[in-house]
Amino acid sequence: MKLKILVTAGDGIGPEVTNEAIAVLRDVAALGGHTFDFDFKRIGGIAIVQDGTPLPADTLAAALDSDAVFLGAVGGNEFNSLSPDKRPEAGLLGLRAALGGFANLRPAFAFKELAVNSPLRPEIIDGADILFVRELLGGLYFGQPREWDRAKGEAWNTMRYTRDEVARVARIAFQLAGKRRNKLTSVDKANVLEVSQLWRATVIEVAAEFPGVTLEHQYVDAMAMHLMNRPRDFDVVLTENLFGDILSDESGVITGSLGMLPSATIGGKVNLYEPIHGSAPDIAGKGLANPMGAILTGALILRYSAGLEAEAAAIEAAARKVLEQGFRTADLARGNTKDFKVLSTTEMGTKVRETVKTMLVNA
Ligand code: IPM
Ligand code: MN
Repeated sequence: MKLKILVTAGDGIGPEVTNEAIAVLRDVAALGGHTFDFDFKRIGGIAIVQDGTPLPADTLAAALDSDAVFLGAVGGNEFNSLSPDKRPEAGLLGLRAALGGFANLRPAFAFKELAVNSPLRPEIIDGADILFVRELLGGLYFGQPREWDRAKGEAWNTMRYTRDEVARVARIAFQLAGKRRNKLTSVDKANVLEVSQLWRATVIEVAAEFPGVTLEHQYVDAMAMHLMNRPRDFDVVLTENLFGDILSDESGVITGSLGMLPSATIGGKVNLYEPIHGSAPDIAGKGLANPMGAILTGALILRYSAGLEAEAAAIEAAARKVLEQGFRTADLARGNTKDFKVLSTTEMGTKVRETVKTMLVNA
């Protein structure tokens, strides 16, 4: 297996966590006789500072020429006063649009070992395993027109979808549900928004192609509550861009830390992989960041871009094992150094790597 991976580590903790994930992927490649070629380019705040733009042309060209793009994080407080089109986030949004992936897969699952980290009671989250399919290229994020008319003191964005945009992401969600527990929850605001009525009607049409999957609809406000009250009732959750952004962060509560969660964006020319946590500038460069989200994102590269399911599963199993053994990064330990062995970013990376290696060698 040969894979050309472009790493855009970006800002804040992006570089340190992607480093750990890359080390895991290199070991997996060496053990299995695979060739993973890594190339590195700038994106986000670091690119604004060094290249004058959040998405330099050579980053974009390299991304389009790769088999997979692995992004760390973008953003930093020093850019907060810039307009949306100049900010680090614009680099990420431009990259998403150029790569064309419209289905952003965001798993949210409970780790038994991290149950104490969640403000939800253990009996509520135990066994929860949700896969969000967030539409990534439409809705308010990309809809035109958009503008802040300062003279008028008025601003507008547009939540806009075509039937085809909804149908293609719905198809992916139904297919994934078919490989899981055969349940799909589509989230909208069809009691108020026309765009949601189109969304719901289209999802119902697509459902006819997937008779084995049970479809239900939820309004986004109610869904925000159901996710906290009864997260186990959901399997695949399909939703538009902004709703998915919000609900996926909310669901970090189920896991107990956003630092654990990976994502994969599929359906376009080149798949894009990014952990869900942000750039966390307050802890960047201190060896405190949790590399698990990035490492588990590496597992998704193996699953969705390399077809190496056993290796992907080994990384996921290793992450669990390391938690079982009582190893925690500071964010996960939450000051409890008595019961846990608290590790730095690189120590945690090494621990997962050693565990993956043992699993693969003994497999
Ligand atoms: C995410 C992030 C991004 C988004 C930002 C950084 C543009 O919040 O991936 O969830 O809003 O999509
Ligand atoms: Mn977000």
